[in-house]
Formats: sequence, C-alpha cells, structure tokens
Amino acid sequence: MSSVSQAVQSYDIRQLGINPNHWYVVALSREVKTQPVGVMLWKQAIALYRDSKGQVHALEDRCPHRLVKLSHGQVVGDELECAYHGWRFNDKGECAAVPYLADNQKLPNCKIRRYPVKEQDGFIWLFPGNAETRNGASLQPMGVPEWDHLNYIATVSIINCNAHYSYLIENLMDMYHGHLHEDYQAWAEASLEYLDEDAHRVDAHYTAQSYYKIDKIWSISQLFFPALRRLHPEPLNVSYVYPHWVSTLGKDFKIYCLLCPVNETQTKAYLIHFTSLNAFWRLHKLPVWFRRFVKDSLFGAAQKLLDGLVRQDVQMIEEEQQAYLQNPQRRGYELNRALVSVQRLMRSQSDL
Ligand code: FES
Ligand SMILES: [Fe+2]
Repeated sequence: MSSVSQAVQSYDIRQLGINPNHWYVVALSREVKTQPVGVMLWKQAIALYRDSKGQVHALEDRCPHRLVKLSHGQVVGDELECAYHGWRFNDKGECAAVPYLADNQKLPNCKIRRYPVKEQDGFIWLFPGNAETRNGASLQPMGVPEWDHLNYIATVSIINCNAHYSYLIENLMDMYHGHLHEDYQAWAEASLEYLDEDAHRVDAHYTAQSYYKIDKIWSISQLFFPALRRLHPEPLNVSYVYPHWVSTLGKDFKIYCLLCPVNETQTKAYLIHFTSLNAFWRLHKLPVWFRRFVKDSLFGAAQKLLDGLVRQDVQMIEEEQQAYLQNPQRRGYELNRALVSVQRLMRSQSDL
C-alpha cells in the first residue's frame, strides 16, 4: 500500500474539532436585518443583531434567565430583548433592564458571552477563539476583495451538508472530481502539478481544461449557453487557507468557500463564484454608476451552475459521512497527495 493511501485512511479526522482562533463566516450581511438571527458555529448557538446604528453584534444565544434563545426576541434601541419576560442585554452581554424589576431589587448580575464580529465584504465574520490570541496574532478575516470590486460579478450558493467539514474541504481540494460535474461543464482533465504548503495553508496547482473564456462582454452568455463553450487549457489553483478555501480557474473565474462548521456531522458554508470583467477595458471607461448597474444586474449569473455543482457535491459528501458513521473503521483508498497535505493541516490546526 502506498504512503498516500495509508496517510489518508486514518479515520479519526472525521472527529476533529476546529481551531477557534480564526475568523469564521456566520452569515451574509443581508441575512442580518432588524430582527435577531440565530446561527450555530461549532456547537455554539449565537444570536446576531444590528443596533440602531446598523452595527452588528454577536451574543451567546441563551437568555441567562430561563435559558431560552435570545434570537427569538427583538432589538430595542441598542439592546437585545428576550421574547419570554423581556429582559434586555447590551452589546457587552450584560443584563441592562428587567421590565418588572421592583424598586428594592437590583438588576441581576448575569453576563452572557459576547463574540467579536466584523462586517466585511458582504459577510459577517466571527471570532470564536480567545481574545488574547486574536490581539497577539492580529489575525484578520480572510476577506473577499472582489465582493465590492466593480470588475467582478458574484453568485452565492449556500451549502448545508450533513457531514464533517473535512469532507467538504477534501472535495474542494481534489480537482479530479470534475468527473462528477461533467454535465455542468465546470472544468475537465485536471492534473495535479505541484503542491505548496506551510502551517497555515495548502496550495494545490493543477492544470485543467476550462470551458469558458470571458474576453468579450457577450462571452458571459457562455454561462447560460453550452453551445458557446470551447475547451482550452488553463491553470487551476485551489488553496485551503485554514479554515477557508479559494480557487482560480485561469483569469476569468475565482471561487471562495467560506466555512461555518456546525458540529462533527454538519457543515454550513458560503460558496461565492466571481466572473471577472477585467478583460473588458472599454467597460472600465464607463461611469461608475453604470458599471455598478452592470455588476448588480448580473449578480447571480452563475446561479444555476453553482447550485447544480453544490447539489452534486453535497450528495457525495453526505454519502461519505454516512458510510463513516456506519463503519468508522472501514478505509477507502486515495491517490491524490493533495489530500494528505490537507489532512495534515486540519490535524495540526485543530491541535493548536
Ligand atoms: S427567559 Fe429570557 S427573560 Fe425570561
Ligand atoms: Fe465539486
């Protein structure tokens, strides 16, 4: 048996925790409106809400009074009010008001956990780790600079899969699975050329055939009409930048997968596909308002493609998880050495 097979077969990778000292994505900005939103990040229930200035806050989603979810409540001014008896909490997680407090009673001295959050590039990023690590290492969210850039058209597909996050990352790093997506014509004939890796990331460099060439404005219609597509070679680079993933196919496409692992058998993630308009130099001379109009009008242009790919991937990933649960000792075979590096990175991060 090759060393590749042996290294990948170790099964306890499916029980790994996360390294909490990173910024995770818990919601799209537009998902957090005036009502609180409940999210789950690695077994922690978190309530997100916006204050009167539009600033997003994140508190433990558990009212300290009777332990119900605060996300069922509402925002009153800058405070989060519990639905049950109306206790209110400020953005530090302190109890700020109890509507029936008697004159001779003091506010209960209860405090719930608050999480650092940032709103950046269309997403809500949350840091579940300890603040000292965050300050010491000055860690920043990975960021998605194309989100607001006028030269990129975005499409978002939300992944909800009943599987450990390692299955999703391995799927995304193993470009030999273009076979699964043949009907959607995403890419073809991938071949792993070389790998770069360090303590924080794995970069796998493949060559592949792409179906798309976005060099004229009308070429965006290739996203809709298969007959317009022509196979041609392009570099295909995929990177696991712990805990997220990013990939480029030639100069025309960039895809991110921003992770929100829920628990050992559930993973949420946001897949963002960008079509580049960089090649259209004529477009760049037009007024900004018009370019924004083009960008906004074409938002979601790759929706059908992206949702279709996600459906196919999720089915495979969930079957892998089910097979693992039925028999955790049963081992598969692996030939792609990128996955050995990916598993090594996951293990070393979850030990930190
Ligand atoms: S349970 Fe929240 S106010 Fe009573
Ligand atoms: Fe896929």
